[in-house]
Amino acid sequence: MTLQEHIFSGGQVKNADPDFGYLPGFGNTHSTQAASGALPIGRNSPQQPPLGLYAEQLSGTAFTAPRADNKRSWLYRILPSVKHGTGFQEVDRGLIRTGPCRESNLPAQQLRWQPIDIPEDGSVDFLMGLRTVATCGNAAAQTGLAAHVFVANASMGRKYFHNADGELLIVPQHNTMKLVTEMGIIVAAPGDIVVIPRGIKFKVDLVDGPIRGYVCENYGVALTLPERGPIGANCLANARDFLYPAAAYEDIRETCTLYLKAQGRLFRTTLEQSPLDVVAWHGNYAPYKYDLRRFSPVGATLFDHPDPSIFTVLSAPSDIPGTANVDFVIFPERWLVMEDSFRPPWYHMNVMSEFMGLIYGVYDAKPGGFVPGGMSLHNALVAHGPDTEAFARGSTKVLEPEKLAGTMAFMFETRYILDPTDYAANLDTIDASYPDCWDGLERTFRAPD
Ligand code: FE2
Repeated sequence: MTLQEHIFSGGQVKNADPDFGYLPGFGNTHSTQAASGALPIGRNSPQQPPLGLYAEQLSGTAFTAPRADNKRSWLYRILPSVKHGTGFQEVDRGLIRTGPCRESNLPAQQLRWQPIDIPEDGSVDFLMGLRTVATCGNAAAQTGLAAHVFVANASMGRKYFHNADGELLIVPQHNTMKLVTEMGIIVAAPGDIVVIPRGIKFKVDLVDGPIRGYVCENYGVALTLPERGPIGANCLANARDFLYPAAAYEDIRETCTLYLKAQGRLFRTTLEQSPLDVVAWHGNYAPYKYDLRRFSPVGATLFDHPDPSIFTVLSAPSDIPGTANVDFVIFPERWLVMEDSFRPPWYHMNVMSEFMGLIYGVYDAKPGGFVPGGMSLHNALVAHGPDTEAFARGSTKVLEPEKLAGTMAFMFETRYILDPTDYAANLDTIDASYPDCWDGLERTFRAPD
């Protein structure tokens, strides 16, 4: 067995050191095999693929997409996907919603939620624990996104999921999750993100206890690295830090359940083998992980507070230049050194809509009510900014160099208006007192004599 040969069966992973098995480089064309000789050399679809495998192409873009954007992978699997693409029956979609979805009549104001509880009773896996907070756009038209939260206290085991409606950007917030995908295994802890491209089958297992986190389901074109402009060729998110899994497969013949979300509907079928039977693959359409602590922040070094776009990790563009379907933005630990500047985020009305979460630490604009696992929603042009305490401190403190340490907040930002779901509107963790955080702001205007 070579160092990139990972075989797992019966839930037991053999010779799979995930830290060693990843293939680095955003958007690279990777080649990996979990059994010697499984990957055809020099051609994609030989008359008889090695080891009796079936060759199958998974397209992530239209065949004729420009070369720079074109995404596809070749999978070499025990049985082709047609063997797990039939017999689907529609089932209850639980708390999963897909845009367009107009359910609640929450007012157009600042919204905030405390963390949702992780269930202690019963058995809740990732798919059962996936709950939609807000949606925008239209999955069928491939515009917009859904912001979800998830909790789970059980592994998916022999249950598998794939989503035809969008790619999934998963943000673990509590404990480690193991994503077992068609292309290999990804282990992710708070501080990491994982992106599962549209249509790739996977399951989520627990590693060190119950999990909680956030998901951005991007209905639009795939997330990519943003342009750096005058920043140049380095910093922000560097391509080498994005990690793709080495091939791994399940060679089991047991009854498995496969779920599919398509057009907002949830379907289920049963299989007599695992759908994770890809023994080798090559291509540039695959899931990946990224450690947000590898993001190299760039910011103001003399005065003023830059726009938060300076912290964009990944962006899914729309047809209007610079106006994203989704921007994934983080607020990582960093030094603040600006002179004569109000250093917390300024008060603002953004024409884009902002869904925010906090992975760990303290967020400098809301040191009180915005806690890890919580979330907020500020739709287009809804005014927001530092609470009374943050304003008072930010406008009076002595401006020494200061490190915002041990913090990681994020934002799903979109050009579309986000509609909260009924689930979100009726959560008992909704913070009805959130707008009160600005009550203490007093008039300080002094008209000139
Ligand atoms: Fe904002």
